[in-house]
Amino acid sequence: MSVESLTQAQAKMKINMLSMEIRALDELYYKDDAPKVSDAEYDALRQRLIALETAFPKLIAKNSPTQKVGAKPSGKFGKITHSVPMLSLDNAFNGEDVRDFVGRVRKFLNIDPNKSVDFTAEPKIDGLSASIRYENGKLIHAATRGDGRIGEDITANIRTLNNVPHVLTGTGWPDILEVRGEVYISHADFEAMNKQVEAEGKDAYKNPRNAAAGSLRQIDPSITAKRPLKFYAYAWGEVSAPLADTQYEAVQNLGAWGFSVNSLTKICKSSGELISHYEGIDTARSELGYDIDGVVYKVNDLALQERLGFVSRAPRWAIAHKFAAEKASTTIEDIDIQVGRTGALTPVARLAPVTVGGVVVSNATLHNEDEIRRKDIRIGDRVEIQRAGDVIPQVLRVLDADREGRSAPFILPKKCPVCHADAVRGMDEKGKEDVIRRCTNGIACPAQAIESLKHFVSRRAYDIDGMGVKQIEGFYERELVREPADIFTLEARNDEIQLEKWEGWGALSATNLFAAITERREISFQRFLYALGIRHVGHGNANLLAKHYLSFDKFIRAIKGAAPKIGEDWFELLSIDGMGEAATGSLVDFLNMPQNVKIVRNLLEHVTVIDAEAPSADSVVAGKTVVFTGKLELFSRDEAKAKAQSLGAKVSGSVSKNTDYLVAGPGAGSKLKKAEGLGVKVVTEAEWLALIG
Ligand code: IVH
Repeated sequence: MSVESLTQAQAKMKINMLSMEIRALDELYYKDDAPKVSDAEYDALRQRLIALETAFPKLIAKNSPTQKVGAKPSGKFGKITHSVPMLSLDNAFNGEDVRDFVGRVRKFLNIDPNKSVDFTAEPKIDGLSASIRYENGKLIHAATRGDGRIGEDITANIRTLNNVPHVLTGTGWPDILEVRGEVYISHADFEAMNKQVEAEGKDAYKNPRNAAAGSLRQIDPSITAKRPLKFYAYAWGEVSAPLADTQYEAVQNLGAWGFSVNSLTKICKSSGELISHYEGIDTARSELGYDIDGVVYKVNDLALQERLGFVSRAPRWAIAHKFAAEKASTTIEDIDIQVGRTGALTPVARLAPVTVGGVVVSNATLHNEDEIRRKDIRIGDRVEIQRAGDVIPQVLRVLDADREGRSAPFILPKKCPVCHADAVRGMDEKGKEDVIRRCTNGIACPAQAIESLKHFVSRRAYDIDGMGVKQIEGFYERELVREPADIFTLEARNDEIQLEKWEGWGALSATNLFAAITERREISFQRFLYALGIRHVGHGNANLLAKHYLSFDKFIRAIKGAAPKIGEDWFELLSIDGMGEAATGSLVDFLNMPQNVKIVRNLLEHVTVIDAEAPSADSVVAGKTVVFTGKLELFSRDEAKAKAQSLGAKVSGSVSKNTDYLVAGPGAGSKLKKAEGLGVKVVTEAEWLALIG
């Protein structure tokens, strides 16, 4: 039932139930360090409560969880900056994805069709990754993955693991060695540990992964020491000398230096061999004694890994082949509508709780109204659901569509359930009707405003310590923070606010928060842009834009100039390699809308945007714009582009007067003509290679 159609009495009941549920979860999270549901599920519950309270403001209780601002619990560990970022992996879900991956690798490297490329295939352990640094053979520190760049310092906890050496054994290890791998708990240890936890009167952990996470997060390492954590080494970060020539030998060396390495690692020569090893591991899965969620494939030759490099967060030389999603059946008790940062109305099924793959699921996304209609999903239906890894569970199909007395088809409201403005389906970039219905009220809609603010302070955006989802909600509801600029005036207003007197806050946490905010008065161009939460301008695009324009002022001028979507500035934007049309349009629309201009302007009164750094001047092509055309013979187009970018050159798809080099291979046509007309320097592939050395 949507919020707007509830009676006061129904709303009251729902608010009470939700508040109770959230309070219980808060207690587990803050006091017992034992979160029971995922962050996403928790956030969904709070969103629902906020939507109800926004529609029925008279029903907001003084002790409602939405009225409480607690200090963010993490931050209790110090931070460690990874000297080499900790990457994640792209996923493959079927044989075709695996063949595509192998094909992509071969194409990128321009491998002769008669030659094979070796890959390793090994279990993907379902735990938490950690990076452990050794200097001259001694364990120096250890960190969690964090956002890939900065992790939490878990040195004391990692030292308690039995199979992590404090001093490396054997010989031949480099002076600096960062070993990376997975911290996990075996099935047998998990059972025994949960019995112990329950005997102590605490809630049992719901699966080994959560138990491992909870154990590693203990602030007191003597508690971690009692937990049966283990570590499998499978990768490395900074090393002062190469570990070997191949992935396989490098990991075997880690084994010789004192680490546990997985014995199911195998070298395979084709996608067929990879898939058959995957099937073998899948069959053996229940006997392994620890949780795995797929098989990881890696290019074996380390020199080829180096050439392949990575794209944004994942290497080109590896992929995770995930196991099929787990399924279960349950009943849809209700359908709620969530309103996201960009106004998207997402229908969410509230399910009778059911265990899928060891996790209790009580929500599933229904995506959009077309999807609901296609599957004819109605409240009260018995449905099959599926959950794969950390992905939000999905409803696959209705199991009892022919039963009697079924409820009426579910209709998505045409008004935003939070602010009641019109919610419409616009056109997507291709001129087709968008499947998503969006609230048209922009930042004036409380749901959109709150979601934008949450995004603004999120980890990859402003990342303000002590300012998380809950704090944003608290400040928003008290009307203290309504737009990003307000965050930066909190301290100056504290005589009135008296944050230190609020429940859950004290003098120290208030001071810490203000200090953390002050620290962010200077922010990098890419973070600033990402933080604005512009549709289609994610982390990758923000990075591309910052790298292209370097100066934030220049960027803003160019976006203004691009407003008519024609002319020099617009075409320059379109020519940025990797930026799609959707992002370009959305960026220009967003930053030319008066209400957004005002928000950005207000914010800029309090923060300074640091221009992006010009690429290192070591390379003669740094900062130059290059276009590739025609057939390249020595390298694939992708590798040539990636190499140019790694040297700080900008790769563009079209020739203009801003182009510095046109690299033209055989068969070059219109681009070559245009370049010649404009007097752009034209070089052959060999000349280009000589130029970049
Ligand atoms: S390799 C640059 N190998 O899976 C490549 N990762 O979904 C780094 N994981 O963040 C990862 N088992 O935490 C690799 N055998 C394995 C793995 C593995 C588990 C985790 C790791 C990574 C995540 C990506």
